[in-house]
Amino acid sequence: MKKPNNKVLVTFDSKLGSTAEVATFMGSVLSEQGASITVKPLSEVNDLDTYDSVIIGGAIRYDRWLPDATTFVRENETVLSKIRVAFFFTCLTLAKPTPAAMRKAERYADTLRSLASDVKPVTIGGFAGALQFSRTPWPARFALKVSSIATGVKEGDYRDWDAIRSWALNQIEVP
Ligand SMILES: Cc1cc2nc3c(=O)[nH]c(=O)nc-3n(C[C@H](O)[C@H](O)[C@H](O)COP(=O)(O)O)c2cc1C
Repeated sequence: MKKPNNKVLVTFDSKLGSTAEVATFMGSVLSEQGASITVKPLSEVNDLDTYDSVIIGGAIRYDRWLPDATTFVRENETVLSKIRVAFFFTCLTLAKPTPAAMRKAERYADTLRSLASDVKPVTIGGFAGALQFSRTPWPARFALKVSSIATGVKEGDYRDWDAIRSWALNQIEVP
């Protein structure tokens, strides 16, 4: 039988809200398993050393993890090197999972693996995100519209909640 970690933090950076919703969903899934879960944005984390395990998520923008997520990992390298860490990212590349898109997503994951030499994520989840022009302020909306035309990824919510659930459940350690 699976024994949940004692205390798990799910923390995230999200510009337009869809990654925050993924993190909140992961928190609910893990809470249902009996784990003690805290979900909060990276900007509110000041007690990292009190957790046994942490899941850190962020959206991809312009082919990079959001800078605050990257900075968070680097600034907390010592603590993160001592606890179980998993990363996830949301992106639109995976909304159309062609072989080329999968390779690109793998490159995103590779950059997360090499953020800080002492931080070794046990896994990195990549998920399709959401493309919602109404949530996107200008001029980012313009950039997104151009990219949408170029990639053929139309406006929509591509988050696969079953895949997110399965991934989250695997983040509870089996002793
Ligand atoms: C300005 C901007 C740039 C983006 N750049 C990329 C990108 O380079 N690659 C990608 O796969 N997705 C890209 N996306 C898509 C986001 O990763 C996706 O919409 C994500 O779900 C947004 O998360 P959020 O709602 O938490 O901000 C971009 C989105 C925006 C708004």
